Parts: sequence; structure tokens; C-alpha cells
Amino acid sequence: MLTDFFSLNGKAALVTGAGKGIGARIATAFAEMGADIILVARTEADLERVASDVRDLGQNAYVYPCDLTDESQIKGLVASLQKEIEGLDILVNNAGAPGKGYGSLATVDKRRFEHTLDINLSAAYSLIHHMLPLLQSPKQASIVNISSAMSWMVDSQMAAYAAAKAGLDQMTRVLAYELSPDIRVNGIAPGAIETPATAFITQDPQRLEETVRWIPQGRLGQTDDIALAALYLASSASGFVSGKILEVDGGMAALPGSAIQSRLQKS
Ligand SMILES: NC(=O)c1ccc[n+]([C@@H]2O[C@H](COP(=O)([O-])OP(=O)(O)OC[C@H]3O[C@@H](n4cnc5c(N)ncnc54)[C@H](OP(=O)(O)O)[C@@H]3O)[C@@H](O)[C@H]2O)c1
Repeated sequence: MLTDFFSLNGKAALVTGAGKGIGARIATAFAEMGADIILVARTEADLERVASDVRDLGQNAYVYPCDLTDESQIKGLVASLQKEIEGLDILVNNAGAPGKGYGSLATVDKRRFEHTLDINLSAAYSLIHHMLPLLQSPKQASIVNISSAMSWMVDSQMAAYAAAKAGLDQMTRVLAYELSPDIRVNGIAPGAIETPATAFITQDPQRLEETVRWIPQGRLGQTDDIALAALYLASSASGFVSGKILEVDGGMAALPGSAIQSRLQKS
């Protein structure tokens, strides 16, 4: 059956930023499809809530609080994991945010710029680097990096985040080549998705209206939209796809730059 290609039965998946938003939904979606889930973020209480949902779905859940901007914590995470599992089938690098790097050139210094690079780019590199022995153990592993429409769109106050996500996209392509054929590496570039991180949009009717105006599908994305794309890229349904950045943005990436410009000017 073609649907079998989407099954994650017997697989182990690690999802970063799994405590809320997109990462939490990817974790529970993968559990629905049969995977055991390793949940990583800083806030243990959030991870425990999602772990409980995973267990309710009949799958194992392992909770690992970790600040991914701290390489020693990543090393500790990998060392603990090596005692628990033999191999890792799926790694989703989802943790990220504009964070301290959000702001104008005048206000964001090098330290704040680098902090944004740390969580959105370097953490993914470091995790893949240290996880490599575990990822090389299964016959075919899949890495999914959660990027952003900001990796290709131009907006002010976003230099650090945009640079980090653009770097993540190119790292995805390079590693897809370097790690083939045993490990596939792909990315997802979400548009505006309804999560705790975008509450500042959803809770402000005028801002919501302005945002939706330049999304051809006429709505914000939901975490399901990203989880379904991640399921495709993580499962053998996408067995011949590697090095691809999949835009899940309600059609925004298909708009010519001039159309985005005119929609922005109306707002
Ligand atoms: N929502 C959108 O519209 C949108 C659009 C484009 C791209 N994205 C990308 O999608 C991903 C998820 O976004 P989201 O909206 O779901 O964000 P969110 O709701 O704020 O969740 C972010 C998750 O990342 C974790 N995290 C943040 N910093 C961390 C750190 N230093 N170490 C470990 N975990 C950390 C957070 O947990 P703790 O704070 O407990 O650590 C949380 O679980 C991000 O990479 C974001 O850039 C989102």
C-alpha cells in the first residue's frame, strides 16, 4: 500500500523545540505514525506535557531538557542517548527563533547577532555532528531542518535570523550531498504559522489582517501543515528526495517579488 510509505513504525525520532508550537505537533504527529520520540528543549515541564501526549498514543517518549546553544549540553544529550538507543532514524532540527537578534542594525550588536545564529544555525550543525554515529546506524536516516520564509524574503530588523536561516538552507544542501546515500537531509521553510511565537500577530486583529493579505491561501498556516510536510520528508515516502527546501507558506514563495512588494505597500 502507498500509505505504508508514510509509516514510522519502529523508528526513533528526535525533535528539538518539541515543547510547544511546530515542534510539539511534529512530535505527536510522528508518534501517531508509530515513532518513539526523543523530546528536546529547555523547559522540562513543556516537554513532559508533550511526552504525556506521545505516551497516550502508545509510543515511548524520552524527555531531554537541553539548551542547544551550549555545546557541552549537546554532548551530554548525545552521551545519554547512546545509552538508551542503538540508532536514530529521524532528526528534526526545529528549535529556533529571531530571539535576541531581532532589531535594527543600530541596536543589534555582534553578540546578539551571534546568539541568533547559535540557536537557528550552529545548534543544528552541532547536533548533526555529534549525532552522526547514531544517524549512521539505521539503513536510511532522515534529517529535517526547519528553516523559514525569512531565508529568502527580505524584511527589516531580521538580518541575523534571515542570515541564520539562509545558512541553514545551504547547509542542508551541502550535507545532503556529503551524507548521501545513507542519510537524506531536507528542509522546510514555513511561512507565518500559528504558534506561541506568533501570538503577537494572532492577538492583534490589524496585524493579522496585514499578514494574511500577502498570503495567497488567505490564512495563517497551522502546525498540522508543517507536521504533514515533516512527515513526508522524514518517511520513506520521500526516499528519492534530498537537499530540498520545501516551502510551506500558503503560496507566498510563488509570488513574484513585485507582488509581495505591492501587497506590503497596501498594509
Ligand atoms: N511560527 C512561525 O510562523 C514560523 C515561521 C517560520 C519559521 N519558523 C521556525 O519554526 C521553528 C519553530 O517555531 P515555533 O513558532 O514553533 O516556535 P515556538 O512556539 O517559540 O517554539 C520554539 C521551541 O524551541 C525551543 N527552544 C528555543 N530556544 C531553545 C534553545 N536554546 N535550546 C533548546 N530549545 C530551544 C523552545 O523551548 P524552550 O524555550 O523551552 O527552550 C520551544 O519548544 C523555529 O525554528 C522557527 O524559526 C516558525
